Amino acid sequence: MRKIAIVGGSGVYNPTALKGFTEQIINTPYGDALCNIGELHGNKVVFIARHGVGHKTAPHKVNYRANIWALKSLGVEEIFATTAVGSLNKTMTPGHFVICDQILDFTKSRICTFYDTPERGVVHVDFTNPYCATLREKTIECIKDMNITYHTTGCYVCTEGPRFESGAEIKMYAKLGGDLVGMTNIPESILAREAEMCYVNCSIVTNMGAGISLEPISHAEVVQEMKVSIDKMDRLIDKFISYNKDIKSECFCQEALKDFGGFKL
Ligand code: HPA
Repeated sequence: MRKIAIVGGSGVYNPTALKGFTEQIINTPYGDALCNIGELHGNKVVFIARHGVGHKTAPHKVNYRANIWALKSLGVEEIFATTAVGSLNKTMTPGHFVICDQILDFTKSRICTFYDTPERGVVHVDFTNPYCATLREKTIECIKDMNITYHTTGCYVCTEGPRFESGAEIKMYAKLGGDLVGMTNIPESILAREAEMCYVNCSIVTNMGAGISLEPISHAEVVQEMKVSIDKMDRLIDKFISYNKDIKSECFCQEALKDFGGFKL
């Protein structure tokens, strides 16, 4: 039995496949996390809506540490995260799915580690490849014959938000090698790595970045584009959960803190 979490971003609040799951509040040292727990395709599955019920939590206010800690305490080993993103790359246009392979961190105010107290000590985790190679391969295997336009690589730029970017920022991120811009994969992906869980992010492009798009960017546009893609994402989530084939693991996510004695709850 695999132990999988789906972390749903904007527009992904209650995937069809996960209907009938049991809501449970998990207490953590960082606060509570609202989880929906169930079984599907022979696997244990936990769902978290990143922005909470009714999208009430802004990206810089999400309790990332509580969410990841809760998933770890429930025994989760694989995290499939979804994110709505703007695009800086003209080949990645609204409606496209991107299985990201790299990340640039432009956040400013977030606590990006579980290791910031004398009790927990100091840890420097490897983040050369921020996303799990095994789960990326699994996701690509799932998506490849689903009639979805997708990209197998992409560099996610994480901004602080909650505002959208300026035109100059978008130009700068593109020059630095960014493909997509969003507000949530940092610190989520870092905390997952510290907690020695495999983590993959599948982004859905909802708009072209500020200044590339000639119109002002609006949250309504993001929500509208997510509605167009939600059925595809629902199907992808279901397929990912059902994909029980063993992919030859090339990742070291589950021993990321080996040199530090492993992650401890
Ligand atoms: N910028 C940042 N985050 C986003 C965007 C964007 O253009 N679109 C969806 N999430």
